[in-house]
Amino acid sequence: MCGIVGYLGKRNAYPVLIKGLKRLEYRGYDSAGVALLTKDGNLQVYKTKGKVSDLETYAADKDTTGTVGIAHTRWATHGEPNSTNAHPHISYMGNLAIIHNGIIENYAVLKKQLQEHGIEFKSNTDTEVLVQLIEYVRTKRETDLLTAVRIALRSVIGAYAIAILDKNDPDQIIAARKSSPLVVGIGEEEFFLGSDASPIIEYTDKVIYLDDKDIAVIRRGEEVEVVDFNNEKMEHEVTTVELNLAQIEKGGFPHFMLKEIFEQPECLKDCMRGRVNVEANNVTLSAIIDNRKHLINPRRIIIVACGTSWHAGLIGKQLIEDFCQIPVEVEYASEFRYSKPVINEQDVVIAISQSGETADTLAAIELAKSKGAFIYGICNAIGSSISRATNTGSYIHVGPEIGVASTKAFTGQVTVLTMLALALGKERGTIDNLRYTRVLEALNEVPEKMEQLLTQGDTIKDISRIFTYAHNFLYLGRGYNYPVALEGALKLKEISYIHAEGYPAAEMKHGPIALIDDEMPVVVVATKNVLYDKVVSNIQEIKARKARVIAIVSEGDETICKMADSVIELPHTEECLEPLLASIPLQMLAYYIAVAKGKDVDQPRNLAKSVTVE
Ligand code: F6R
Repeated sequence: MCGIVGYLGKRNAYPVLIKGLKRLEYRGYDSAGVALLTKDGNLQVYKTKGKVSDLETYAADKDTTGTVGIAHTRWATHGEPNSTNAHPHISYMGNLAIIHNGIIENYAVLKKQLQEHGIEFKSNTDTEVLVQLIEYVRTKRETDLLTAVRIALRSVIGAYAIAILDKNDPDQIIAARKSSPLVVGIGEEEFFLGSDASPIIEYTDKVIYLDDKDIAVIRRGEEVEVVDFNNEKMEHEVTTVELNLAQIEKGGFPHFMLKEIFEQPECLKDCMRGRVNVEANNVTLSAIIDNRKHLINPRRIIIVACGTSWHAGLIGKQLIEDFCQIPVEVEYASEFRYSKPVINEQDVVIAISQSGETADTLAAIELAKSKGAFIYGICNAIGSSISRATNTGSYIHVGPEIGVASTKAFTGQVTVLTMLALALGKERGTIDNLRYTRVLEALNEVPEKMEQLLTQGDTIKDISRIFTYAHNFLYLGRGYNYPVALEGALKLKEISYIHAEGYPAAEMKHGPIALIDDEMPVVVVATKNVLYDKVVSNIQEIKARKARVIAIVSEGDETICKMADSVIELPHTEECLEPLLASIPLQMLAYYIAVAKGKDVDQPRNLAKSVTVE
């Protein structure tokens, strides 16, 4: 959460920083700020509650000159979102400005100590403690900024990506990270900083991904130097980012979320490219080939993830148990990390994360690693902390996901899990050849069927308009479609703020049915599979209580068409692949309801794309 940008070079820093903040706004958007060393040598800080556009308005008549600066878009953790708590924060002597993404866990102790030395604080943030501490160390020890940062960070517990500007040194930015992402961009006589590469790629594709406990010294006219807390030089490869501008712009769509929903067919082709080969009747995941001995015969698999990625994990469990006959448990990473799990070297932990930065998932990985488990990551963000913390893994390759509500990452994760289950099932001899071929061929056809489904956008838009009145929704599904119901409900909650619950359809009678009346729409995923008749009975029970039913059915279904109020038809596919198709109309339903209610779809309140705090 929170986005960080920095610039030092020959251009005017301000426009570069503002553009960068807009790219990172998905990470947090309750306040924003910028610090610039202006032409006449002043340290100017402008910050305000609200979005980056509010900052632009606020700074419109101010001095925004200068070729070095840092900027921040915030997702509040400590201290309410207002202009005082917004970053950058300034040190008590007025020399240093800092921006920070993460949480300083021992900030209260440090703050107390600094207050005892007479230092006054202006904000309620944990971040301000950092800048005061660094200034204090620098003054007390009469040392340079780098040494002060190194010493100060040794006493800090928590997660951070920081950038610091010194009023008296317009040729330097110091940046550091621990458990929060930070990328340095290297251009021609100019440098960039970003929480990810999106603010950078317009200017250069050469980047350094900082590692934990790295401190980067960025100096005008010099090479970037990276040291650790003991001032040991850290070697870093300059890598080339494969990200293009089109991937991070809306491309004519009104929202990133809609663009990302419509991108899914192409994304899944990218995800399967070089992996699914129908002619050769084969799925290849290099991670499985390279790590056969760890993956072929585990005692069990534990999937750890949060939110939407956890829903993908629930589908993964069914796929792996079905094709590979390996017992699978799916855990919320946040619960797992504080549990006392019985794991050992014979276990495989699959960590699923779009951003690759989710703090709880990262901590769950560290715990599992410490017990000797082998860790397989399924991530989207290339080079992210989780992808680096795992023993092996498979990227989902769906491109940057910017809309806060996850869409294409979910279907990408399910696709990788399907390929993984197929490949492992074949290696283990637990899936029969006929089924393997059938699923493989059907998987290959999913993008085309998604295209077909996406043409129903207008129908779904019409349906959504009918339901904007509702305050509560129930989503039901069974088997492979139960996680789809959970995911559909989560999408609606996140962006429309309508309360929604997902349930396995048969559980309805064990409680939730008490809620059902003519005010509560029920979305039922009722495709033609082994449990179809049972779900039809559920629909009858719902209709008997006068609720409106939106049914997601298999193409040509006549029975449910007669019972439900609104029907969306899915092309036929293998039962295990139905989630890939069924989730599309549910994403669209949530999107159009939120738009009809005038909500900020891409940046829903209180949320952020990358949850780097627990
Ligand atoms: C929901 C959503 C979140 C994330 C969750 C995990 O639309 O996006 O529930 O799925 O915060 O994030 P990642 O996958 O980045 O670990």
